[in-house]
Amino acid sequence: MADSDRVKIALVGCGNIARAHWRGISYHAPLIEVTAVVDDDPERAAAMAERTGGAAFSSLGDALGSGDFDAVDLMLPHDLHEQAAVEALAAGKHVVLEKPMAMDLESCDRILAAAESAGTVFMIAEQSQYWPDVIKAGEMIEAGAIGDVISARASFFDPLRLDPADPIPWRFLLKRSGGGICIDGGAHWIRPLRMWFGEIDEVIAVTGRHIANLEGESVAHALFRFSNGVTATFDALLTDSAVGPGDDFHITGTAGELVIERGREGRLVLFDGEHPEGKMIMELFPGKVDSYGFELHDFSLAVLHGTPLQASAQYSLGELRTALAMYRSVESRRWEKVW
Ligand SMILES: NC(=O)c1ccc[n+]([C@@H]2O[C@H](COP(=O)([O-])OP(=O)(O)OC[C@H]3O[C@@H](n4cnc5c(N)ncnc54)[C@H](O)[C@@H]3O)[C@@H](O)[C@H]2O)c1
Repeated sequence: MADSDRVKIALVGCGNIARAHWRGISYHAPLIEVTAVVDDDPERAAAMAERTGGAAFSSLGDALGSGDFDAVDLMLPHDLHEQAAVEALAAGKHVVLEKPMAMDLESCDRILAAAESAGTVFMIAEQSQYWPDVIKAGEMIEAGAIGDVISARASFFDPLRLDPADPIPWRFLLKRSGGGICIDGGAHWIRPLRMWFGEIDEVIAVTGRHIANLEGESVAHALFRFSNGVTATFDALLTDSAVGPGDDFHITGTAGELVIERGREGRLVLFDGEHPEGKMIMELFPGKVDSYGFELHDFSLAVLHGTPLQASAQYSLGELRTALAMYRSVESRRWEKVW
């Protein structure tokens, strides 16, 4: 455990998600103090240092050598996850690592072994674990609000915003990303399904590519069969074009349906015999963006007080395993086991 009343943290990788983590820390993680920031792009490191007040470093090694922090928040391209996590754990740091843990299970095993020997807190950042609408839907399912669950539909739409200065970003290259939309943002739609229905037993999937230079899949359709017998569809689409309205999740039971509408606002609506037109259960403002702060607060409680994490690092392997099983299914054209 840390020896002060706040966790001193280094933000490593000052790109897209780092800005969301910093916002989350500012609003919802009062036990975290950013004392260092690391990026091999000096402008990005300087900009984050300016925002946070942390000292800027150009490499994790330099920061571990002379920085003042107990924990690292690793927000790097997927092919750098193992090296950075193992290096930070070997230095005795607590580690929160953005999803996916790594690009394959062997690499995950090595990271988990390093975490085990370090004996520090090791967490995978998966913010959908903390989405209030997802948590509320889980409580309602548990309380029988829609009867017995029959099936679910998960639909993930990710708008592609390319930086003209970086037309082929790292996540376009399979050797750096490990895959496309399923291994990446798809995790945020797979986690809620696992929270509601337990483990996914097997999957069958088709994927496609339609974005120039993106080697991984930009569209996916899959069927998931859960160990408890529930079936779900999973659709994912990455595009820079406009799409029509849709919903993130439908959970259908024998007595009604819960719907989480698309968007970051987290609108949860119940349809049942009493409310055939729908009853608004929850509407969030500013919405799901707060969840990055909730996840980092969870991490800080584990570091400072030994509080169990909402989800263990091992548990996060379920999203990665599901994505990898989808990729195997595309090759085999058959159902593939997840575990
Ligand atoms: N949870 C979410 O909603 C979410 C959203 C986006 C990304 N992510 C995850 O966050 C991670 C980073 O993704 P991103 O979109 O922020 O990427 P990004 O490219 O925007 O940021 C990565 C940063 O790392 C820096 N970097 C690269 N190599 C480095 C090195 N060797 N040393 C120091 N800095 C280095 C880059 O300069 C860049 O600033 C990935 O694991 C990704 O899957 C999560």
